Parts: sequence; C-alpha cells; structure tokens
Amino acid sequence: MVAQILTIAQQKGGAGKTTLAAHLGVTLAEYDLRVAMIDVDPQGSLTHWYSIREKQAHLNLAPISFASCSGIRLAAEVDRLKKDHDFIIIDSPPHADTEARNAVRLADLVIVPMQPSPLDLWATQATLKMAKHEKKPVKMVLNRVNPQASLSQKMQEEMKGLSMALFGNRVAFASALLAGKGITELAHGSPASDEIENLANEILDYFGYEVEEERVKA
Ligand SMILES: Nc1ncnc2c1ncn2[C@@H]1O[C@H](COP(=O)(O)OP(=O)(O)O)[C@@H](O)[C@H]1O
Ligand SMILES: [Mg+2]
Repeated sequence: MVAQILTIAQQKGGAGKTTLAAHLGVTLAEYDLRVAMIDVDPQGSLTHWYSIREKQAHLNLAPISFASCSGIRLAAEVDRLKKDHDFIIIDSPPHADTEARNAVRLADLVIVPMQPSPLDLWATQATLKMAKHEKKPVKMVLNRVNPQASLSQKMQEEMKGLSMALFGNRVAFASALLAGKGITELAHGSPASDEIENLANEILDYFGYEVEEERVKA
C-alpha cells in the first residue's frame, strides 16, 4: 500500500503544527505503522526534535523515518518515501506561501491546528482557502483549549461541517518533545496522551483502518 500523506498546515505561527506532527507521528508509529516525517519548515523545529530522538536509541523508541527538505524538493522526497511507509507527515511552514502550497498539494488529508480564538479562526481562512482550492479534505484541530471557556463551543458551532479533535493546554506536550519523545511514550494513559490517540484513531478511521486496542489492521 502506498503511504497516506498528512500535511499539517496553518499559516499562523505558534498554532501547534510541529507539536501535532511529532506527537501524531509517534502515536502512529507505536501502532506499528511505518511512519515518515518531513520537515519543510526552514525553522527546523521538528528536525531539532528528531535529532534529540535519534540520540535515545537505547530506549527503543518507535522507529520513524525522517527527512527535512525545501518545498521544491518535497514532491521528490514524498515519492521516495511513499512506497515503504503507511503514513508520511509533513510539517509545513507558516505563511500561505509556495512551500505550504506544495505541502498541501501533496496531501491526502490536511490537518489544521488552531487555537480557540476568533483571531486565530480568522487567520486560518487563508489555509482553509488553499486546501479548498487544491480540493483537499481538511481536519481542524482545536489546540490549547481551556475547558472553562465557552468560546470553543461557540467556535465549534461556527465551524460546523469540519471534523474536529480537541487538545487541552498541556505542558506535557512540550516536555515530551524536549526528551525527543511523543506524549504516548512519556506519559501513556495521561489526558494529553489520550487526546493524541483520539486524533490518531480518527485519522485511521478516516483512511479505513480498523482500530483495535492500539493495534491496527489495514
Ligand atoms: N496543546 C498545547 N498545550 C500547551 N502548549 C502547546 C500546545 N500546543 C503547542 N504548544 C506550545 O505552543 C508553542 C507553538 O507550538 P508549535 O507546535 O511550535 O506551533 P507551530 O509549529 O504551528 O508554530 C510551543 O511553545 C508549544 O510547546
Ligand atoms: Mg512549527
């Protein structure tokens, strides 16, 4: 089977693209799926995380293939990795520029993290427009949600029709990245870990996988 391409896109910086990419990649890899990640963001945050991860070989963390490249090289890189992987996760740069567009164009599913504020919702329109223009399905992810705030509920109503997963505001996501890990490796069973597993399961379900107690069947 050829890999499914998940592009994490959002023109707004700081929305949680790299955080989601890393944790989602680890979760899928822990399900024994063959995962590759590509960092197209020149800022290289995901690359930095992976370089820490590589140094933890003694921990037997779930294997992940990794590449970083420019937007121009992206299609060739995806082509190279497609045959031997189940999922390719692309972490794209902010700004709705050519690099992000290339990443969206290659996607089977575009994942758009967004913080629950009207400003972020408005700033997300360019990314949604880009995905629509490229005729790509979108999954929005509300990130850093405060359970006390009713705003997210209101925003969910405003965003009807778009499938959605929720992430709380949790320091544990950053702590895991600092250790080169995903949250499912650092604190399996924690609320943060459950949140990323929920998203992973939604994505697997979307692509027709059967999810059975953390094992998947194509
Ligand atoms: N759910 C979350 N809870 C707490 N902090 C988060 C969460 N998601 C992201 N962050 C933090 O927000 C900042 C921006 O996240 P990042 O993943 O780098 O966004 P982007 O890649 O979109 O620029 C980082 O400091 C990250 O640790
Ligand atoms: Mg980033």
